Parts: sequence; structure tokens; C-alpha cells
Amino acid sequence: MAEVSIEICGVRFPSAAINAAGAKDVSAGDLEALGQSEAGAIVIKTTTKAFRSGNDLPRWHTDGMGSINSMGLPNLGIERYLELVPVLRRWNKPLIASVSGIEEGDNEEMIAAYDKAGVDMIEVNLSCPNLAGKGQLGYDLDASREMLASCRKITKRPMGAKLPPYFDGFQFERMAAVLKETGADFVVTINSVGNTLIIDPEKEEKMIAPNGGFGGLGGSYVKPISLANVHKFSQLLDLPIVGVGGVSSGVDAFEHLLAGASAVGVGTALVNEGPAVFTRLNAELRTVLEEHGYDGPAAARGKLKDKTGTPAGKETPATQAR
Ligand code: DHB
Repeated sequence: MAEVSIEICGVRFPSAAINAAGAKDVSAGDLEALGQSEAGAIVIKTTTKAFRSGNDLPRWHTDGMGSINSMGLPNLGIERYLELVPVLRRWNKPLIASVSGIEEGDNEEMIAAYDKAGVDMIEVNLSCPNLAGKGQLGYDLDASREMLASCRKITKRPMGAKLPPYFDGFQFERMAAVLKETGADFVVTINSVGNTLIIDPEKEEKMIAPNGGFGGLGGSYVKPISLANVHKFSQLLDLPIVGVGGVSSGVDAFEHLLAGASAVGVGTALVNEGPAVFTRLNAELRTVLEEHGYDGPAAARGKLKDKTGTPAGKETPATQAR
């Protein structure tokens, strides 16, 4: 029987399938349900210093292909999540914090607090697409470098970056160089594809209300983009990658592993199905791993072949960050 457990940055995960930050992980009840589920970790909603109710409703829409959202970082605020850390410990699975400061210095302050509270890993979200008046940090290399370098000084715990999707070879290479230079321990890719639009043709309306109807796209719509980002970063970096985007079956998770992911994050499918999705995904992942002769996720990692059947392998970056 193939196993689904993995180890990333010295941390043991009971399953390679975890929740993506932002999907059913805001309230204490959401987080408890993730603890109780077969999810491989508990990822806490991307946190700001203060409580945020988020954007106006409707701010989420899902269809057969995926989802669009403009949540606007609804979260309980750091103080409440710090109280929950020791409570959530009892589920004996990794606790992962995600931060997205609004003001300068917020990320450093929150990372220090989460570090002290004893979370296992910390994700710096460089890619929330839904904050009015704020660009995504991950599309500004200098700002990303500065932010990651500053955060790196605060914690020795495994710290990684959650990246927006990239579409250009230079962007991959330059961001990979930034991650190396600033000592990131892991990569989470991709966040939702920002500023997309879904239209209801019957009503002749936009599907969501905030941000002029624009929102981050997730689910099956984005799987080819997430696979490309996972694969590129796995070729450019020797870091564990959490592949996020379009994972709604064990086969989707397997594709992410082949592309180079060590673990997968589940967003849209978790919102659609609830935490029981992890029971289904783990069973499906075991089956597909076994069918392909792998004894676990680590064995399948990076096993993708080119069309000719030769291993896809690594890449030498043609450019440097500067
Ligand atoms: C939010 C949306 C996202 O797609 C994301 O990755 C992080 C945050 C949000 O608007 O809350």
C-alpha cells in the first residue's frame, strides 16, 4: 500500500495534501475541522494584525471549472490565531502560519509572534490579489527581495514565500534568484490568478461584487498554470515546493508531484466539498501512486519526463536577479 505522508524542511506531514491558505481556514471551527480531517497540515488563513471582515458579498463564485474570489483577507487577526496555536497542537500535525501585512513592519511583527507561539512553518504571502490599492508584492522583485530578507532575520523556523503565478521565463528566473538570495526554505506556488473576470450571461452580470467584479481565479481553470510554475521553480531551485492550483483529484495531486512538488495545497475543492475532500484525495493519491509503482509522494516527486521519454531534469538559469 503506498503511503501519502511526506517530510518537508524536517517537518513530518501525515499527508502530502494540505489546505491552501484561505480555503475554509478562517474560523476556529474551520481550523478544528482541518485538524480532525485527513489534511496533512493545518494552514491558518493569511493573517493581518487586525481582524478583517473582508470585501462585500458575493465575493466567491464557483462553477464546474473552478472559482473566482475577491475575499479581501477576511481573518480573525493575529491575536486570536496566537491563542488558537496551542489548542490546534493537539491534532499532531504541522501548523503553518501565513502572513500578509498591511503596513510596513507588520509581517516582521507577526512572524515574530507566530515563531514564539511555536508554529512549524511560516508562509509569507507575496500574492494576495484582492487588496484595493495594493499591488501584488510578488510582481515587484525588489520589494519581494526586501520583504523576504527582512522576514528572514526574524525567524529560524522554515519560512517560505507564497508566489503569484508567473508567465514569463525571466520572471521565473529572477524570482528563483531572489528566493535563493534571501534564504527561503520552501515555495508555495501558485496563488490564484489575479484580476480575472467571470460573467453570468443570463443576468448579463459580473459574478462577484468587489473590485469591479475582478477576482483571483482558482480550480481546474488554473491547473496548467500551476503545473508550469511548480515545474519551473523545481528546475531552478533545490527547495521543497507546495503545488497549489487545480488539485481536485488524486491524479491532479500526482501531476503536481511529477512536476516537482513535494506537497499539494487544496483550495477550491476544499471550499466545494469541505474537509472530507482530504479523505477522498488521500485514497485517490494512494491508488494512482500504486498504479505507477511509487511507494509514496516523495518517490514520484520530479519524475516528469519530456515528450521523448527522457527525464525533464534541472535547468541552469540564463539570467541572474540583477
Ligand atoms: C485572498 C485571496 C486569495 O486568492 C489569496 O490567495 C489570499 C487572500 C483574499 O482576498 O482574502
